[in-house]
Amino acid sequence: MNYRHIFHAGNHADVLKHGALLATLSRMQRKDTPLAVIETHAGVGLYDLHAPEAMRNPEWKFGIGPLIGSTAPALQPLLAAVAACNAKDSLRFYPGSPELARLCLRPQDRYAGCELHPIDAAALRARYAADRRLQIHARDGWEALKALTPPPEKRGLVLVDPPYEKPDEALIAARAIGGALKRFGHGVYLWWRPLKDPDAIALADAELFKEGIRPALAAQLTLAGLTQGLRGSSVLILNPPYGLSEDLGAFAQSLKAALPSALRPEVQVAPHGLA
Ligand SMILES: C[S@@+](CC[C@H](N)C(=O)[O-])C[C@H]1O[C@@H](n2cnc3c(N)ncnc32)[C@H](O)[C@@H]1O
Repeated sequence: MNYRHIFHAGNHADVLKHGALLATLSRMQRKDTPLAVIETHAGVGLYDLHAPEAMRNPEWKFGIGPLIGSTAPALQPLLAAVAACNAKDSLRFYPGSPELARLCLRPQDRYAGCELHPIDAAALRARYAADRRLQIHARDGWEALKALTPPPEKRGLVLVDPPYEKPDEALIAARAIGGALKRFGHGVYLWWRPLKDPDAIALADAELFKEGIRPALAAQLTLAGLTQGLRGSSVLILNPPYGLSEDLGAFAQSLKAALPSALRPEVQVAPHGLA
């Protein structure tokens, strides 16, 4: 439990994941029926980009930073969410996935987030104590996923965003998602993965799809021009809602256009396995 997301808040991986999250929720909310957002690894919900941890090696300068001020329509949901967390014309706070979910929740929707780090879980609980639509579980996300699926709403998005501290964490994630799919087969699953060990991801995908190919969509962002740290990541979305492929394609192309060309951004959006 050494991982602290504040060191990475607002980086290129966050903007890919969070843009994909907003696009997916937007498509799912075209129906009025209640929706559950279930998250295995929640973090703290809001990150202070001026905190010493975020300033040490400010990854957000190669992520959300250059996007601010873009007028690209596909970036506006993410930029509006960031603006909602900040004073006018400033960028100090970056919303994590629980906060993005909160900003999107309708009265009939619900968010259930798991966070194992005691300090982060306490911070999340305190942040959302007054909002009954958000439930925080201070427990292991892999274990909790068994209890939280299927949700009573029968419609839901499961967000899987582990820290990948352990070498086999992608495989652990694939097994957890595979188990959840047995209980909640028509749920939408959004799984973030770092591009640092392609063999580990291939092994995890083989595990996930061992009982047959499911409808899936993958979006990937790489920044080959980054001189340090993670250079790329992807999201894999299982059972993607209708129309998401186009929305995610537009989002990815807008990301590529808004990031500095010196970072050599490249994006791909494709049905999984064809990318
Ligand atoms: C990548 S961060 C989550 C970021 C968040 N999803 C977001 O997008 O804003 C991973 C989080 O998982 C927490 N964590 C690590 N192991 C966990 C576990 N087994 N169950 C639940 N949370 C865990 C870490 O403390 C960390 O806050």
